[in-house]
Amino acid sequence: MADKTKALRHIAFIMDGNGRWAKKRLMPREYGHKVGAETFKNIVKYCRTLDIEAVTVYAFSTENWKRPEREVNAIMALFSDYLDVAIKDMMKENVRIVFLGDKSVFPNNLRKKMEQTEDESKNNKYILNVGINYGGRDEIVNAVNLCIKEGMTKITEDDITERLYTKASPMPDLIVRTGGEYRISNFLMWQSAYSELYFTDVLWPDFSSEDVDRAIEVFNSRNRRYGGV
Ligand code: FPP
Repeated sequence: MADKTKALRHIAFIMDGNGRWAKKRLMPREYGHKVGAETFKNIVKYCRTLDIEAVTVYAFSTENWKRPEREVNAIMALFSDYLDVAIKDMMKENVRIVFLGDKSVFPNNLRKKMEQTEDESKNNKYILNVGINYGGRDEIVNAVNLCIKEGMTKITEDDITERLYTKASPMPDLIVRTGGEYRISNFLMWQSAYSELYFTDVLWPDFSSEDVDRAIEVFNSRNRRYGGV
């Protein structure tokens, strides 16, 4: 198990590579997402055992709606299944769940389940942020629009930070991307200013607790200066 230092309060994951993982097995992409959803649950549980205050995952972006309908439906079905069981785990593990993104696009039943899960878990200590219909630019625009609505004429960095979907969490210390791509892809655009980035070729369905340990080891070896010397 990784030697987690106090410095790692918030870890975030770009869960990439589900489609390629399935393709390698001559299976439909949807199968990759199904196994990826299991990986997601395991990794969240593992991070909780490491006592990490906040975990964020990028499950579905504002751009992912462009994927074939069949794939979008499969991801939404997995998400809905997850919502049916999530609250029990959240309460048992003392985790507050927060959905990052505009919920108004989801069908009523799904949106209600999301709101209910958020509400029931809101007093728990640890945080799990699930980015679903999430985009970093959209999040910043939303925060600015909230400022305008409140009548502000001049805004500060704090005004934006306090209105982000992630406002309950500290800034991410470490962002992990699986699947061998070296991009941020509109994830945590504002929050990632000083995050350490860790990229791995491991495809998300294969990502394990040992891989989390490896990422944390690398994080522990980095020298964070926040613009200082
Ligand atoms: C990226 O892999 C993955 C996604 C866009 C979806 C992630 C969804 C899950 C892990 C399951 C559902 C989530 C929950 C919260 C239950 P990709 O499809 O872009 O893979 P590729 O790059 O190999 O094509």
